[in-house]
Amino acid sequence: MALQLGDVAPDFTAETTAGTIKFHEWLGDSWGVLFSHPKDFTPVCTTELGEVARLKPEFDKRNTKVIGLSVDPLKDHHAWAGDIKETQGHALNFPLIADPDRKISNLYGMIHPNANDTLTVRSVFVIGPDKKVKLSITYPASTGRNFEEILRVVDSLQLTSKHSVATPVNWQRGEDVIISPSISDEDAKTRFPQGWKTLKPYLRVTKQPGA
Ligand code: BEZ
Repeated sequence: MALQLGDVAPDFTAETTAGTIKFHEWLGDSWGVLFSHPKDFTPVCTTELGEVARLKPEFDKRNTKVIGLSVDPLKDHHAWAGDIKETQGHALNFPLIADPDRKISNLYGMIHPNANDTLTVRSVFVIGPDKKVKLSITYPASTGRNFEEILRVVDSLQLTSKHSVATPVNWQRGEDVIISPSISDEDAKTRFPQGWKTLKPYLRVTKQPGA
């Protein structure tokens, strides 16, 4: 069965551009983003990896480690890295997993045979410090992802893991949040001393805790 939210992200040992990595050990107490791309030396993937390298300091600020994966061999990853730096202006600054035997791709369901039976799709898994899958998304090969959106969901996941809140549509860090419907008004008084606005009994809006 496909990996689902709340499942433990499977552990593995992998050869990467940053050496051999034991995944859970490498994650340590951090959050993690594991993402696959279909193939080295392809245009959309080149832009995506340059973008992740550009955003790496933002992931660092969020105590979040990023790691990429494709089924290409390590020597291709190393050779391609030069093209990423040259064309995107950002050198690879995070590990890229080489998964030529598709061991990890299969473990994470990153190969969707009805889309392509040999290459990985564009999967993203956000993994919490408890090693559980907090979010997964899948894009086809033809559509590059928006990694600013991945940062946004990391912000939401980290906030909602600490406070009894949810984040509304298009929420950005610092904006108002929603008090979880499971919290009574009585309980909310102690959790949200700054108060809240009740639009409906199930829709209570408050300032982002800690903002
Ligand atoms: C790309 O990254 O451009 C790409 C990779 C595989 C299939 C189609 C596009």
